[in-house]
Amino acid sequence: MNPANPNTPGTPYGTLPAASPLPQRKPISLPRLNELRERGEKITMLTAYDATFAAVADSAGVECLLIGDSLGMVCQGLSSTVGVTLETMCYHVESVTRGLRRVQGTAWVIGDLPFGSYHESKEQAIRSASALMHAGAHMVKLEGGGWTTETVRFLVDRGIPVCAHLGLTPQTVHALGGYRVQGRSDAEAQRMKTEALALQDAGASMLVLEMVPAALSSELTAELTHCHTIGIGSGNGTAGQVLVMHDMLGIGLGKTPKFVRNFMEAQPSVKSAMATYVAAVKSGTFPDNALHAW
Ligand code: KIV
Repeated sequence: MNPANPNTPGTPYGTLPAASPLPQRKPISLPRLNELRERGEKITMLTAYDATFAAVADSAGVECLLIGDSLGMVCQGLSSTVGVTLETMCYHVESVTRGLRRVQGTAWVIGDLPFGSYHESKEQAIRSASALMHAGAHMVKLEGGGWTTETVRFLVDRGIPVCAHLGLTPQTVHALGGYRVQGRSDAEAQRMKTEALALQDAGASMLVLEMVPAALSSELTAELTHCHTIGIGSGNGTAGQVLVMHDMLGIGLGKTPKFVRNFMEAQPSVKSAMATYVAAVKSGTFPDNALHAW
């Protein structure tokens, strides 16, 4: 028995962190995210890959957990996300959702469709998206615009919430020629606007903007009234923010990207680092356009 809570069974390894810390927080859903946006409150997201960190992030008040294919780099030691398989993604989505269940977590869970799992056809995309949903995701994410628009529509029409992803799309890093800012020229910016509006029209309810100039991502956010922009390295004008968990805890293996802040600095615990991230995003102090954006 768990002495702290007689209704929660103990385990030989102790218990996961105390049950969801924000007892007043309703389960995060699309309507709840819309409410946050309507009242001008920033949406907070972190990546999560396992049960315990997911439970801690939930208890720190993070609203959305993205099981990103960045796990290929931070968990598997790959040099890019291209080698991540659907089977691996499902394993991590299951781990995260089990962790959340054990603490009655309320976060919105997004599963990333990995490279090659939606590129062949809309039918392949729905099979892959269903696998992530069966594993416990509430929403799936896929990268790119243009050709993906009809895939997004196909999934949304069949009841699967979709988060799109424009700007730097790591699955196409080889085609992009490296990890660099996207949308700098007028032509690229115009193309991104057209793609973003088409994705919104197709029913995407979230859009990650990665390494997009701050002015452009603010413009996109103003235009996308039904699709919440979530920035990473894209300035503070988006509807929400996301960071890779390892980066914001200061334990990345490579060079720290300019858009990252180490929230672990001067914090006594991972939970307080995550709570500091949530507070900084909500108050608009992170990201700082002068330091973390282009
Ligand atoms: O895979 C991932 O973690 C992502 C985020 C960086 C947005 O796509």
